[in-house]
Amino acid sequence: MEQKTCRIGCIGLSGRGAGMMELLLDVPGVIVPAVCDLVEERMDKGVEIVKKKAKGEYDVRGYIDYKTMLDNEDLDAVFVATTWITHIPIAIDAMKAGCHVGMEVGGASSIEECFRLVRTSEETGKFCMLMENCCYDRKEMAVFNMVKQGLFGEIIHCEGGYRHDLRDEIVLGRENIHGRLKNFMHRNGELYPTHEIGPIAKILDINRGNRFVSLVSVSSKSKGLNEWIKNNKGEDYDLYGYDWCCGDITTTILKCANGETVTINHDCCLPRPYSREFTVQGTKGVVKELESAEGDDATIYLEGISEKPHCWEYFNEKYRAKYEHPLWRDDDTVNFVGGHGGMDYLILAAFAESVQLDAEPPIDVYDTATWMAITALSEQSVSMGGSAVPFPDFTNGMWIDRAPARRGKFCLEQVCDEFFE
Ligand SMILES: NC(=O)c1ccc[n+]([C@@H]2O[C@H](COP(=O)([O-])OP(=O)(O)OC[C@H]3O[C@@H](n4cnc5c(N)ncnc54)[C@H](O)[C@@H]3O)[C@@H](O)[C@H]2O)c1
Repeated sequence: MEQKTCRIGCIGLSGRGAGMMELLLDVPGVIVPAVCDLVEERMDKGVEIVKKKAKGEYDVRGYIDYKTMLDNEDLDAVFVATTWITHIPIAIDAMKAGCHVGMEVGGASSIEECFRLVRTSEETGKFCMLMENCCYDRKEMAVFNMVKQGLFGEIIHCEGGYRHDLRDEIVLGRENIHGRLKNFMHRNGELYPTHEIGPIAKILDINRGNRFVSLVSVSSKSKGLNEWIKNNKGEDYDLYGYDWCCGDITTTILKCANGETVTINHDCCLPRPYSREFTVQGTKGVVKELESAEGDDATIYLEGISEKPHCWEYFNEKYRAKYEHPLWRDDDTVNFVGGHGGMDYLILAAFAESVQLDAEPPIDVYDTATWMAITALSEQSVSMGGSAVPFPDFTNGMWIDRAPARRGKFCLEQVCDEFFE
């Protein structure tokens, strides 16, 4: 298909923003005529990255102030990779300036800002897509394909987590001008829910026939960061002994309108290997991300299909190969492996396609607000000792009777085989 050229500005050019921009420049039909970061040398580096890829075919301008960039540039969209507390205000300004938005992940600070995000998108007709790359991960997509084929029966329960040892990144936030530090100093709750909740929400049809109705969240004590400081920076480091607000582990349970439950864990302050704990369980079987030294696999049990009753099997070899999502069989995908094993490129390609077609994105503003709102709701629940809090309906009742999602290669509601022939 002939690609329409689209003009995307990039705001926030630290490690993530610069890396994603480099990949975005590889998506056919995308040009990046403007970049922005508050830190001048990051902005300059961003300009250099674009110049190298643009090879003189177009100009790129750098900005310190994103509002000036929005005023001066004629952009179709922006990609925002700043900090958790700045994503939504920037996205709102960008939509008001006539741009579609692709926004990096992170939790919301308040329910009010989530509603403002939704209403701005509705009023301007511009979309805001959370760039939740894990929705396009190979394992999650193969499981999604199996769920849609009914292999797990009716889904009853899902689990996930963001279990990622980020002690150095959090503690050294001032030295490295990185955004996580102040959140862990001042907020207690599920600060980063979307990597695990995105794929689960799509499996459970959240906002399209189902919705989250309530959650409870409980946080442990906080010891991991001070232990890391003691061992790595010494007891003279000014943050040693700091009374960290965020508990080392926050566990959240969500209840869905159709009866399913979801458990997620936020776990970034203790030594441990990375895991998203992806688990899906239904009336016919269960799949569970494998936490072992054996690498990126999962275990699965399907009643009547697995070789032995009551015994786990490995997922990758036998099941993933058979039920691979067609996007992961597609030549374009298989031949292009960018960041995080390929899912970064896929989310960028999905975003660019929606911008080029000026059409509904696979992760829309209702998904974005719902997934991000978990953080603000979790903070409320933790502060009340784990009391249940009601989950807002950002769709204003539309979830019970919405038009079907736009079909396409990158669709996350259905597997659209007709796009892969
Ligand atoms: N999807 C993923 O797999 C993934 C991976 C890493 C990070 N992230 C997310 O991406 C985002 C960026 O991550 P990072 O590690 O690069 O963070 P970071 O804190 O290192 O960088 C944020 C950058 O945004 C800039 N910035 C902040 N406010 C700004 C504003 N108003 N205008 C212009 N620039 C502004 C800062 O100067 C900084 O350079 C975070 O939300 C993070 O959670 C996602």
